[in-house]
Amino acid sequence: MNYEFLNVFENTTEVKIPKDPLQQIIGQNNAVNLAKIVAKQRRNLLLVGPPGTGKSLIAQAIAFHLTKPTQEISVLHNPENPERPTIEVKNVSEITNEEKLARQVQGKLVEPSSVPYFVAEKLGFRCRKCGANSKANVNACPKCGADKFLTTRSPFGDLLAPYFEDPRRSDRVHTTRQLDNEMEEIIVYEREGDKIRILDQKSLEHLDSLKRKKPRKVIVPIKRKQFVIATGSSETELLGDVRHDPYGGHSQIGTAPYLRVVAGGIHEAHEGVLFVDEISSLQNLQRYLLTAMQERKYPISGKNPQSSGAVVRVDDVPCDFVLVAASNINDLPHILPPLHSRIVGNGYEVLLDTHMPDTFDNREKLCQFIAQEIKRDGKIPHASYKAVEAIILEAKRRAKIFDEVDGLTLRLRELSGIIRLAGDNAVSEKAEFIDETHVKVAIHRGRTIDEQLSEKYGSVWKAGQSETSLGREKKPTNQKEIS
Ligand SMILES: Nc1ncnc2c1ncn2[C@@H]1O[C@H](COP(=O)(O)OP(=O)(O)OP(=O)(O)O)[C@@H](O)[C@H]1O
Ligand SMILES: [Mg+2]
Repeated sequence: MNYEFLNVFENTTEVKIPKDPLQQIIGQNNAVNLAKIVAKQRRNLLLVGPPGTGKSLIAQAIAFHLTKPTQEISVLHNPENPERPTIEVKNVSEITNEEKLARQVQGKLVEPSSVPYFVAEKLGFRCRKCGANSKANVNACPKCGADKFLTTRSPFGDLLAPYFEDPRRSDRVHTTRQLDNEMEEIIVYEREGDKIRILDQKSLEHLDSLKRKKPRKVIVPIKRKQFVIATGSSETELLGDVRHDPYGGHSQIGTAPYLRVVAGGIHEAHEGVLFVDEISSLQNLQRYLLTAMQERKYPISGKNPQSSGAVVRVDDVPCDFVLVAASNINDLPHILPPLHSRIVGNGYEVLLDTHMPDTFDNREKLCQFIAQEIKRDGKIPHASYKAVEAIILEAKRRAKIFDEVDGLTLRLRELSGIIRLAGDNAVSEKAEFIDETHVKVAIHRGRTIDEQLSEKYGSVWKAGQSETSLGREKKPTNQKEIS
């Protein structure tokens, strides 16, 4: 093998790792190209291939390339029929507008010295005798010593003061303010710690409109992950649920139905990727997935018939996701045919490669892979050039033994295992870098069970023979004991 092909470097610290997760995928050119189209055009994708060849990585990379979510989904209380909460979908501009409103409602915080005197006095900041400002919770003016509230002294004197709420200090002062156009507007001053909050008429109106809003629960927030894993999901995890309330949603002591609605994976993946590894393992849930993909919305209802949630249903909850499914070749017949056709009808299916040609570029790609895996692991040192060579040699050997080809293996999870083992060897030897010997020891330790068996017994077949013959010898003795 000619290693002069490789760009010479001292160790993997010098190897560049691209930021884009799609560029971090080694080999699989076909799948990577399709992944780009899938993300851009929002299509579905079925990845078929053996374990550890990058199916999950490709699915994640698609999510990374999707445009950011533009919708937020909330469940609203329905006063006419609480068991049928309604759905509200807000887009980004509505959300930013509301945030702006909420900020306006918060008004402006100012110093006590910048409000009219009578307001500062009523809120307890200003001494009515000398006009000095001080903290509102101090009764005696620190400047002149006078009671800041002298003019409204209680008829019972200070004796009973602790038993009465202090009527002399207000938390809020309502007043009016003259505008330029000779109109008056209501203005409210509120005490807030050492400062005063000013709410003008506009803020008050916004506050009022916010208060008038229907009670709601956001079930799919605008800031969310766009990669949702539905592998091995239960029905409720996939389709959502309405939680049980022991008080049956009683208006006083119970929890209102809309608050008990929980989104499923299909809803959380709205505008994102729903990733289903081993899609056939979803079994009959595949049918629901098919409906969700067709309708792009799916109702949420209580799934447990014994629960008070069972009577609650929310219709038309959006679930417009990109389905990325993975399957190994043997399980292909167990994918529900209409679902399979749905995926392909609006997307692609691709068989992942198990190896790639042994070229200069591909060896460079493997160098990148080694650097990536070391960085991802975070607990092992970088690898020397010689170590990288040894790992590439192992990639070549693996392509030969597993796929009987002259190339470089793309069963990279297993190769990544060797890198980690080699890294652990380096750590236990307190070495600065992973070197060739660490890799060799790792390869030896990381032999597959088949390799270990054939080393010990000559061949896997012979090993099997000796095991069964052992079993045969033992059987009669056991039977004797029983009888
Ligand atoms: N093509 C690849 N490029 C880069 N790294 C890879 C690739 N394939 C596998 N790996 C490495 O192997 C690990 C496992 O890959 P991944 O989880 O994507 O495999 P998979 O095909 O989904 O396997 P499974 O069928 O077992 O779910 C990754 O975290 C990565 O470290
Ligand atoms: Mg996977």
